[in-house]
Amino acid sequence: MDHSPSRHGQWSSRLAFILAATGSAVGLGNIWKFPYITGENGGSAFVLVYLLCVAALGVPLMMAEVMLGRYGKQTPINTMRMLAKKAQAGQGWQFLGWAGTLAGFLILTYYSVIGGWTLGYVFYAVSGRFSGLSGEGASGLFGNFVGSPLVQVGWHTVFMLMTMWIISRGVRRGLEKAVTTLMPALVVLLLIMVGYAMTTGFFLKGVAFLFTPDFSHFSETSMLTAMGHAFFTLSLGMGAIMMYGAYVPETTSIGTTSLVIAIVDTVVALLAGLAIFPIVFAHGLEPGAGPSLIFETLPVAFGDIAGGTLLGTLFFVLLMIAAWTSSISLVEPAVTMLIERFNVTRLQASAWVGLTAWLLGFATAFSFNVWSEVTVLGMTFFDHLDFLTSNLMLPLGGVGIAMFAGWCMTTESTRTALGLHQGPWYSLWLFLIRFVAPVAVSIVLLHAVGAF
Ligand code: PHE
Repeated sequence: MDHSPSRHGQWSSRLAFILAATGSAVGLGNIWKFPYITGENGGSAFVLVYLLCVAALGVPLMMAEVMLGRYGKQTPINTMRMLAKKAQAGQGWQFLGWAGTLAGFLILTYYSVIGGWTLGYVFYAVSGRFSGLSGEGASGLFGNFVGSPLVQVGWHTVFMLMTMWIISRGVRRGLEKAVTTLMPALVVLLLIMVGYAMTTGFFLKGVAFLFTPDFSHFSETSMLTAMGHAFFTLSLGMGAIMMYGAYVPETTSIGTTSLVIAIVDTVVALLAGLAIFPIVFAHGLEPGAGPSLIFETLPVAFGDIAGGTLLGTLFFVLLMIAAWTSSISLVEPAVTMLIERFNVTRLQASAWVGLTAWLLGFATAFSFNVWSEVTVLGMTFFDHLDFLTSNLMLPLGGVGIAMFAGWCMTTESTRTALGLHQGPWYSLWLFLIRFVAPVAVSIVLLHAVGAF
C-alpha cells in the first residue's frame, strides 16, 4: 500500500480527522432536518428505524468509505477508478464517484439556502426580535422571512461565499481550522436548550413523542425517509467521507473513529429533538410543521428566558457553523475533481463550483415564496431535490460503495486497509456490508415504490 499522503493534503492528527468528519456529519441534518422529519413522520417509530439504520448501515458504511478514501487518496471518482482496476472489476464502478460528486453538489444548492436561514436568524437574535415572542409571533416572523425572495437569495449568497472561501483555502488552513473549537461549543448550547425544555412542563411529552413506540403515523415513505436520513446525517453515500478519508493518516483506527463520529452525530440529533419537541407541545405548535419547525420553536424559548438574546445569538451562530462545516464537505469532491481533471487552481475550481451551485440554489430559495405553488405531485422543487438526493441518491450510492468494498475487493485487502485482524469485528463488518446493506436498502426502496 502507498503510504505517502494525498496530493490534496493530510489531516494533522487523528483528532483533526474526527473533528472534520464530525463537522461534516453534524449539521443542518441533525438540528433542522431530524426534528422536522421526525415530527412529520409521527415521532418514535421513525426514530427507531433511523437509529437502526445508523447502527446497521451507517457505521459499517462509514468504515468502508474512510477505508476506500485512505486507500485511494484521491477524489472519489479517481479512487473508485483506481481501486476498480486493482480489483480487476469493471470501470463502471467509477460511476459511483460521479454520482456521488453530483449528489453532493445538488445537496449544496439547497443546503446553502437553509444555511442562509441560520445567518438571517443570527441577525434576528442579535437585534432582540425574539423577546416576548409567542408561538404565533414566531411563525409570523418566519413566514415573512422566507416569504421574501430577495432576502432568501441575499442570505444564500452570503452562505455560499463563506463556503467557497473556506474551500479555496484547502484542507489544513481551511477545513481543519474551522471545526476544532466550534463543535464542542454547539453541544454545550444544545444542553442548555434541553435544560430549558425541561422547565416547560412538557418535557416528558417530548420524550414520549420521541421514544414511545407508535407506528400509527408511520408510512412506507417514512421508512425510506428514515433510512435516507441515516445516510444524509452521517454524510454517507456520496463520497464526502471518502474524500475526507483520503486525508487520514495511516495510524488512525478506522473502526473506533467511525463509531465515535456516528455516536456524536446521533447524540446531537437526539438532543435537538429533546430541546425542540417540549417547546412545540408547550406552545401548541405543530410537530409536523415541516422545514420551519426549529425556526418557529426555538425563538419562542429564547424570547422567554433571561439572557435569551445572547443565548439565541450564540445558538444560531453555532448552527450556522455546523452548517458551514458540512457544506464544505459537500463540495470538496467536486472541487478536487476539477483540480485533478482540468489542472485549475483551488481558487478557480471553488469559484466555478460555487457559482453554479449558487445559481441552481435560486430554485430552492424560490420554493418557499414565488414558486411555492409550483408543485409536481404536491411537492415543490426543494421537496423533490431533497427526496432525490437523500432518499434515492445517497442510499443507492451507499449500497454501491458497500458492494464494491464487500464483493469486489479481496477480504485480504479490506482487512489490511481497515487495520482489523481476522476476528469477530471484521466478520461482522463484512456481513453488514455484503448482505445487510444491499438487502435492507433494496427492501426499503421497493417497499416505498409499492412493489410489495
Ligand atoms: N451530514 C450533513 C448534515 O447532517 C449533511 C451532509 C450530507 C454533508 C452529505 C455532507 C454529505 O447536515
